[in-house]
Amino acid sequence: MDNRPIGVFDSGLGGLTAVKQLIDVMPHESIVYFGDTGRVPYGNKGRDTIIRYTRDDISFLLNHNIKIIIAACGTASSVALPHLEDFGVKVIGVLEPACRAAVSRSKNHRIGVIGTLGTVKSGKYAQIINSISPEAKVFSAACPMFVPLVENGYAEGDVARIIAADYLTPLKEAGVDTLILGCTHYPLLEGVIGDIMGKDVELISSGREAACYAKALLTEADMLTGSTEPGEHEFYVSDSAENFAELGGIFLGQDIELCVHQTEI
Ligand code: DGL
Repeated sequence: MDNRPIGVFDSGLGGLTAVKQLIDVMPHESIVYFGDTGRVPYGNKGRDTIIRYTRDDISFLLNHNIKIIIAACGTASSVALPHLEDFGVKVIGVLEPACRAAVSRSKNHRIGVIGTLGTVKSGKYAQIINSISPEAKVFSAACPMFVPLVENGYAEGDVARIIAADYLTPLKEAGVDTLILGCTHYPLLEGVIGDIMGKDVELISSGREAACYAKALLTEADMLTGSTEPGEHEFYVSDSAENFAELGGIFLGQDIELCVHQTEI
């Protein structure tokens, strides 16, 4: 048993969608979250910058006595993690669990992936899917407008629908039966994405799959907490704590105002 917290980081507040899943799957675990709100977005930055930022995020969490780190950020997971050194603490990204879930659930081996520009350009999702299932055909689409839509309160309605239709129609026409939501923000667009893709296409939440994978790893290593109380969570951000607390509720579904700290990175 290991009572240390789980570390989670993201480029900003979107990673709270993964925190929500972690709390759901492992309610007794405590979490230390770092959101790099001062430098978000990562999705349209160059590779070296994303690698540098991700290394900073991990270093921050390493100072908080965590037992495992989860990169909730799809962009950091795909662009940076493959190039980073061993930190002496296990760091897991959101790609492998989502790819495994997609391969096991797809019946026609036609899998869609949506994410930021950086995520899609990295080609990592396709690489991992094909390493598990060489016959799978992967169709990817970058959806750069999705993050600002969610952050500005347009996750539902006509504007979201028009933009989503434009991004997703080629995937629908390609006949994918499984679609990986490869970015922290996309679970909030699930309604619109689901309507456009149709009910026969299964949506895979990368945050949900990562949370289940983390639980399996901690269980296997006998590193789950011994506490039977609800976990205690701390949130750190590199920009205004107030802004984070205001928007964070949308992603997490609860008031987190009291526990947010602004920090230097
Ligand atoms: N968190 C990022 C991701 O999941 C989206 C926001 C950004 O571009 O930084 O890829």
